[in-house]
Amino acid sequence: MRHLDIILLQQFYSETDTEVIAQLVAHLYQGDILLAVQEALTWLQGTWGFAVVHQLHPDQIVVASKDSPVTVGIDLLGGQAFIASDRKAFGQQALTVVRLQNNDCALVKATGITLWREGKLHTPQAVDWQGIPTDDLGHKAGYAHFMWKEIMDQPQSIMQGLEGRFEACARHVLLSELETLKEQLLGVKRLVFLGCGSSYHAGQIGAALCEEMLQLPAQAEVASEFRYRTPLIEGETLAICISQSGETRDVIAACQEAQRLGALVVALCNVNHSTLEHLACATVSVRAGAEVSVCATKSFTSQVVTIVLLLLHLATVKGIRSARMDQLMQGLQGLTLAVETVLAQAPAVAACAGEARRFSRFFFLGRCYMAMACAEAALKLREVGYADVYALPSGEMKHGAIALVDSSTLVIGFCGHAHVRKQMYSNLMEVQARGASVVLCSPEDEEMRSELWWGRFVFPANDDVLDPIMYVIFGQMFAYHYALQSGFLIDCPRNLAKSVTVE
Ligand code: F6R
Repeated sequence: MRHLDIILLQQFYSETDTEVIAQLVAHLYQGDILLAVQEALTWLQGTWGFAVVHQLHPDQIVVASKDSPVTVGIDLLGGQAFIASDRKAFGQQALTVVRLQNNDCALVKATGITLWREGKLHTPQAVDWQGIPTDDLGHKAGYAHFMWKEIMDQPQSIMQGLEGRFEACARHVLLSELETLKEQLLGVKRLVFLGCGSSYHAGQIGAALCEEMLQLPAQAEVASEFRYRTPLIEGETLAICISQSGETRDVIAACQEAQRLGALVVALCNVNHSTLEHLACATVSVRAGAEVSVCATKSFTSQVVTIVLLLLHLATVKGIRSARMDQLMQGLQGLTLAVETVLAQAPAVAACAGEARRFSRFFFLGRCYMAMACAEAALKLREVGYADVYALPSGEMKHGAIALVDSSTLVIGFCGHAHVRKQMYSNLMEVQARGASVVLCSPEDEEMRSELWWGRFVFPANDDVLDPIMYVIFGQMFAYHYALQSGFLIDCPRNLAKSVTVE
């Protein structure tokens, strides 16, 4: 047992755990900052990604990483070095970028990087960043906020996700990233989708589609729950870990747990070269382009598109062919046009969101895939609008939540599916009868005249599984304008981070 008789003698100045590392390094320092950090690492438990500077060594930064992303960018010509958790922070700088791996420690100077791996000197490998379009790195393109830019990007980001993977005429889907897994995919009997926040909502749509189209049992699970319960993962389970950043701590842990239990793990990431990508057997790129605003928008819609492609690919590998698949492919073909129809309604959505600030409680109600869209739309309004928002499958209302409904309530009904529209209308009438104001979002329906509702939006009907994309985009625009007109911060809402790399 080793002893470290120091901590009690040190005075702590903050309440963050990071200070423990600073105190430890300071205690072990004997003139060489690198040696002090290397010794400190032998005492640490948990996860970390940190950079240490010392006033006596202004030309040196020592960095270390374990289960947390640390990226170093070196500008050899300019004599500069940069350190960040995400390469996006370096903007368009032409840099040699090195990503630290688990337990790496490195000394960074303006002249270069010296890397230690498993106690030995290691030649750093520069990452190839060509996959990222440089014009997509951190520019608002004239918009006031990244969130609005990213909402408006969606016809383009969806198209990017389909390019080269989906041939509309041939009705053919091919994900080259999964080519090497053909044999394993053939044997897949069950799917589990793992993610957090918006990525979890995308997984819910995936699980429902999997059962509907492939008749394979599937479930979506919040990664932070999956990692701590005792999930039943039988052989031949495909675990799909979904993460925009690929750095979310709980998703990484869930991925490791799924692997330990014998699942075949495929990652779905938007950011390339992420930790999740390194762990998974294969990664399908979501191709939404850089998403800077904390609130996920285009990454969510591209995740849904990528999941649809992945399931169509799986069906092809398994030799499954059905009319439903053809229908879905037709839906993919019409998707960007449908999305543009929703975006064109931005002025009306802005007016509605402004008026909606007089309500103190919000409900998003839907059924089937629309219930999943409701969960995602509600998350947006909560994140940037700090509003008291609930999302429920509308049939659940009468089992409790309806007790909250009064004249201060705004209910937004997502009535996208024809087969449950009658039930949806009847649920909306119920809340209206109890004093709530209702915004109805649905395809054109002559019976549902505008004057019946406080607000009315008409979206085209394309395909049941893809239509949530349109309704979610409405929710994104509503949340943005609600926050904007309330004077809230948009791109960096309080208490939130773009990637949650801690538990
Ligand atoms: C929602 C949002 C978060 C993320 C969640 C997962 O707008 O931004 O809920 O979806 O933190 O992040 P990723 O997808 O990076 O794992």
